[in-house]
Amino acid sequence: MNKPLTIAMPKGRIYEEAAELMREAGYHLEVDAEESRKLILEFPEQNIQVMMAKPMDVVTYVEYGAADIGIAGKDVLLEQDRDVYEVLDLKISPCYVAVAGLPNQPLSRVAPKIATKYPKIASDYFREQGEQIEIIPLNGSIELAPIIGLTDRIVDIVSTGRTLKENGLVEYEKITDITSRLIVNPVSYRLKGREIDEMVTGLSKAVGGED
Ligand code: PRP
Repeated sequence: MNKPLTIAMPKGRIYEEAAELMREAGYHLEVDAEESRKLILEFPEQNIQVMMAKPMDVVTYVEYGAADIGIAGKDVLLEQDRDVYEVLDLKISPCYVAVAGLPNQPLSRVAPKIATKYPKIASDYFREQGEQIEIIPLNGSIELAPIIGLTDRIVDIVSTGRTLKENGLVEYEKITDITSRLIVNPVSYRLKGREIDEMVTGLSKAVGGED
């Protein structure tokens, strides 16, 4: 048998949605992800190996060829600009990137501070707007920054909008819509093209809701 097709999958909620889509495409990758602490899951009957990775790291594993395929948020792809093929919009985990802050607070005239874990997306956006800003990079709980007066705005993911609301923040502008994408290592695409195309076709039908 050929070497298994290796897929880097994000841990947590996206895994559940992605595994469901895979099942519809004929690949049974169900695990009790919450229960298991295993980082490499083997599915020998399907000749597939799954690597459980942090969402931000999936693209790294695929770029370096440690995984042939990955499932990554468009937010991560926009932020990291890596050498991988983006082959399919899986349309799962929809959310968007937005600019938010305390209500009724005009942006400071001089170098407003923006907290974010997406420095590139934020810089690109404000550059297009002709604003000179200062990025304050944070790794999570970004909403804290304007509440405590550290920054004027945040650039962050909005899903249900609950986090903003419960912290008394409002959305100022939407930057871009986000969904999860199927990505492929370019060398793997050459070496395992048939298996990968088969998976892409199956997933594409599952996304489109076809039989
Ligand atoms: C994300 C994002 C927001 C929140 C938005 O955070 O950074 O904080 O979800 O979701 P909502 O609109 O449904 O409230 P995540 O849970 O990934 O944790 P983080 O704060 O550590 O980034």
